[in-house]
Amino acid sequence: MSITQKIMETFMQYKPDQAPDPLTQNKHGYVGKPLSRVDGQLKVKGEAPFSAEYKVENLAYAAIAYSSVTKGKIKKIDVSSAEKAHGVLVIMTHENAPKINDPLLFNPGGGKGAAASALPILQQADVHWNGQPVAVIVAQTQDQAEAAAKLVEVEYETAAASVSFDALKKIAKPPANILGEPTEIKIGDAETAINAAKFKVDNIYRTPRYNHNAIEPHATIAVWHDDKSLTVFDSTQATYNVSYTLAEMFGIQPEAVRVIAPFVGGGFGGKGTMWWNTALCAMAAKVVNRPLKLSISREGVFRLVGGRTPSEQRVALGAESDGKFTALIHTGITATTTHNNFTEQFTFPVRHLYAAENFYIGQKIVNLDTVANTFMRAPGESIGTFAVESAIDELAYELKIDPIELRRINEPAKDPVRDVAFSMRNLTEAYRRGAEKFGWKHQTPRSQKDGKWLVGQGVATAYYPYYRFVSTARVRISADGTAVVQTSTHEMGMGTATVQIQHAAQRLGLPIHQVSFEYGDSNLPPASFAGGSNQTASNVAAIAATIEKVLRELLALVGDNSPLAGLKYEDIEARDGGIFSKKDSSKGETYTSILQRVGQDYVEAEATSSEPSEMQEYSMGSYGAQFCEVRVNEKSGEVRVSRWLGSFDCGKILNPKTATSQFRGGIIMGIGMALTEETLFDERKGRIMNASLAEYHVPVNLDVPHIEIIYNDIPDEHAPLGLHGIGEIGITGVAAAIANAVFNATGKRIRELPITLDKFL
Ligand code: MOS
Repeated sequence: MSITQKIMETFMQYKPDQAPDPLTQNKHGYVGKPLSRVDGQLKVKGEAPFSAEYKVENLAYAAIAYSSVTKGKIKKIDVSSAEKAHGVLVIMTHENAPKINDPLLFNPGGGKGAAASALPILQQADVHWNGQPVAVIVAQTQDQAEAAAKLVEVEYETAAASVSFDALKKIAKPPANILGEPTEIKIGDAETAINAAKFKVDNIYRTPRYNHNAIEPHATIAVWHDDKSLTVFDSTQATYNVSYTLAEMFGIQPEAVRVIAPFVGGGFGGKGTMWWNTALCAMAAKVVNRPLKLSISREGVFRLVGGRTPSEQRVALGAESDGKFTALIHTGITATTTHNNFTEQFTFPVRHLYAAENFYIGQKIVNLDTVANTFMRAPGESIGTFAVESAIDELAYELKIDPIELRRINEPAKDPVRDVAFSMRNLTEAYRRGAEKFGWKHQTPRSQKDGKWLVGQGVATAYYPYYRFVSTARVRISADGTAVVQTSTHEMGMGTATVQIQHAAQRLGLPIHQVSFEYGDSNLPPASFAGGSNQTASNVAAIAATIEKVLRELLALVGDNSPLAGLKYEDIEARDGGIFSKKDSSKGETYTSILQRVGQDYVEAEATSSEPSEMQEYSMGSYGAQFCEVRVNEKSGEVRVSRWLGSFDCGKILNPKTATSQFRGGIIMGIGMALTEETLFDERKGRIMNASLAEYHVPVNLDVPHIEIIYNDIPDEHAPLGLHGIGEIGITGVAAAIANAVFNATGKRIRELPITLDKFL
């Protein structure tokens, strides 16, 4: 049974609690209903296979030996003891690895590259970061491979490495652009205006390194077929890009590489690009001439997969007594490497959030000898909103204006730097509704106490840009009245399959259990990667275009004997299992009737969505207001988040259940970013010191209060189906809301994350 069949079987047994009656669905519609996830049961029953879990015959197992030095060359690599270890089949080093082409870098703006870094993979003796793979050990079992990996002995010739962010800050340089956007924006003269302002704040904010810790560590199973074609089960957010990139690297046709990933156990950007493990697995599978599994250990994910870089940001705000901003400055520095190309876009939020007469926005980077940095849920926006939304709060206290009111006063009528209209923006409404539900009342700092706990409340704005990318889908309507929608898109647990089934069923006018969705396979029509919160909009546009095409083809088939004869596409609507005249509701025919009459088993179409011109014409973003209450232990400085409410403005919400879960997940990740998570990095050696979940503290249940979620649900008429992305916005503004609440509780302003006990000393 295929994965899709299994999902559909589960789904058909399941009665969504508030779903409309399937037979009358056309009158109600599925979009906007809180359907439970179609893959939920498979997951909780352990029946959903993740990349490392596929049953493949004759499987061998691999482990990686990582460099313990930061920069230099491998002088000698001695695998003799490792080779003699029990069960070892092959040890692959740069000396015997197959020669392959360099990886094609991932480009978030489009293109087919997938790689996180442009470095050649195990082709040279050079070492570029502390943790770079130096050998792949293949054995009969996973334990044997891991044990033998420890026996690989490497002699290095080390070179001086640049690993100290602090030491390099003074030579930071502006990058050419930031994800295609300008690096620097100057409107008026912000420095002069700040100096002249009656009220001002001007401070430095710091955020640390953070590492990815999805539940499923990166894993790959590679199966070669006669050296000519390759099947890869890979935990990835970009099946199509990975297949294309592997094909390029191994010099085979793109069609010859199939990447399968129907289930991904969390991605958050850590699986948005292809890391060394995927290619290493395919290479070593070739060498050992057997199907091979390379499942990375938790420590391995820290060594091999990049995360957020450290940042140092300056935010300066000037205002008159009425609270209107005269100047807004947001500048700062992050780190990247010479072998990738990603500047964390921390100044993106401030480009779209507030009106001001004068702006100065600019970013610089330093190049470190580390693993490539990468996307981590709202990269840039999450750390950028920490700085900006803290600064707004600081200015509100200076002005003695309520922080929500200060934001309202500076709400821009149009995009402040792009000089275009907002396609949709109801942030003020999100604040109004949030404040009411939360019971917002701004209190004097250090005025509320509950036993040993100082209590405080904070707010901050959440922001994430709107992205949609060109995507392709295929739709088949069969004579039995079922439809299948196919696209190579990704389901990392967000509800992709669920919402697209809702969407397609509604658009096709079919009962929801008669529509299935096939995804997570690069052999399906190419969808955009899952990242930048683009996927739902991209899929909706592709599926809408494809359904239009398939209905046009069906209409062309009906012939003269149909009640639909002579009608044009514009005259018809899909409902009640077929197509009907919009004008005369009695005129119509079901899909089954049409296809049976013309003697076809099915009608099928494939189509690609339009270019996302809405992004050029308008300033588009998701918005939100984060409200929280914290308790800070007066003696120890321990911070507990006791209450949370997120109020969002993200256009039409397709499924309240899966959307609420997305928002909550983002907020929880934000609580981790604010209070517990931090990659400890040895600035002498460039080595991560806390490469485990025992020492890298993600928030656990006791760290997270009940999180209330509300949203405006006002559709954007310029976006497909009125929706904006919701995958990443949840984490934005969270750290600032907490820092603001901590100030309100204690009177102490903390401008460096994470807010740990020592910061209160
Ligand atoms: Mo997201 S950080 O673009 O997966």
